[in-house]
Amino acid sequence: MNTFYIETFGCQMNAHDSEKVVGTLVQQGYTQVETPEQAELVLYNTCSIRDKAEQKVFHRLGQFGRAAGKGKKFGVLGCVAQQEGEKIFERAPHVSLVAGSASYTKLPEMLVQLESGNRRVTGLTFDSAETFDTPFTRRDNPHRAYLTIIEGCDKACAYCVVPFTRGPERSRTSESVMREATGLVERGYTEVQLLGQNVNSYRDPSPAGWDFAQLLAETGKTDGMRRVRFTTSHPRDFVREIVQAIDEIPALCNHVHLPVQSGSTAVLNRMQRLYSRDEYMRRIEWMKSTRRDIAITTDIIVGFPGETEADFEETLRLIDEVEYDSMFIFKYSRRPNTSALEYPDHIPEEEKTRRFQILQERQRTIQMRRNSNYVGRSEEVHVEGYNTATGQWIGRTSQNKTLNFVDASLPAPSGDQTHVGKYFDVLVTRATPNSLAGERVTLRARLQ
Ligand code: SAH
Ligand code: SF4
Ligand code: F3S
Repeated sequence: MNTFYIETFGCQMNAHDSEKVVGTLVQQGYTQVETPEQAELVLYNTCSIRDKAEQKVFHRLGQFGRAAGKGKKFGVLGCVAQQEGEKIFERAPHVSLVAGSASYTKLPEMLVQLESGNRRVTGLTFDSAETFDTPFTRRDNPHRAYLTIIEGCDKACAYCVVPFTRGPERSRTSESVMREATGLVERGYTEVQLLGQNVNSYRDPSPAGWDFAQLLAETGKTDGMRRVRFTTSHPRDFVREIVQAIDEIPALCNHVHLPVQSGSTAVLNRMQRLYSRDEYMRRIEWMKSTRRDIAITTDIIVGFPGETEADFEETLRLIDEVEYDSMFIFKYSRRPNTSALEYPDHIPEEEKTRRFQILQERQRTIQMRRNSNYVGRSEEVHVEGYNTATGQWIGRTSQNKTLNFVDASLPAPSGDQTHVGKYFDVLVTRATPNSLAGERVTLRARLQ
């Protein structure tokens, strides 16, 4: 076995795990290929957050069932692997590796077992207190890097599989996080995104004992670091020191993703979210009262069991009050092992769809209004690419908004000239609900 292909589903944690898995495999002498057809080892790094996400991997495995006889090996990694375990071998007999994220430190051993003809190799225990850190990470983006600070989740939200698929919380030492951050800057990265299912409950296991706010502040003060983001924040553990750090340290981005899930305290209680609507709104106030223009984004679940029309209207009122810059809306999906499965009053699918659409429509108007406020302002972007179809460079603002722009001095990439990875000031000239458009502000334009 020399070649492998990997396809990744799910959240940033999974995307980054795949970068580490790829690094580990390459280090073991494997070569990554672009299509599953070319590969001897086909890996799927899976997500189980909603039923639809879980079905994707079985669909993929079904597509390649027959190729298995021709010397290909299949591996299922990630959250579906952890959740379904050995049942995957029954459902897809051509799979020979099933491993959850808590076992990735043992990947080299598992690969040896596969190589030696072992038909069923598993990594499904949560017996390690370690995190999956490897010097061989193959990062996909040369300018913006993910950096894991904490793995797992100790909460027990009634709808959520993550505590079952990712295991208990394990924080890295502040020293190893800071070493990685410094190393990234030395290798040319200027933006990092700190990752964890609940970054706010980060607790340095070393005697230094840093909490998340300290770790965030220190990462933001790293020499040469231009932008630091973090995700995801659980409102219960989102303390005021985090907002103060953002207010004070320029490299910390003007963006907080703070999933609310529902605007109704009754629903939040049944979700076991550990905060009330008022407690959540207090955190919003902290952010709105800073000097910084912090963009706030969120996740909302519609149609949680027992959600009444009145509960839903409280969610609508909450989004009017907060005025989020962006939001992910999900229809409640029943997940194995979770406590909400047993709850009465599951909401019919059509009703979930109706609430989803109402919320989406309302949020679209809010986003249009929010984005329009930027017209006429100059914003700094980190350039991510160039869109040949529209003839615009693609940039991202500190608020995590996409700002597409034209630049008279370099209308398109030419030869080895590109703007990708650079930072520019861009004058915003137009807004849509999902993005901004503008023109690069050059020194010459400023002087005119
Ligand atoms: N750790 C993060 C969320 C991780 S999952 C947090 O605590 O906020 C990302 C989002 O998926 C959640 O915020 C939630 O809105 C959604 N989600 C999780 N389980 C779900 C389910 N069973 N049905 C619908 N949406 C769900
Ligand atoms: Fe899931 Fe809740 Fe943990 Fe987030 S905090 S990962 S929603 S259990
Ligand atoms: Fe999905 Fe697992 Fe992430 S369930 S959202 S890949 S933690």
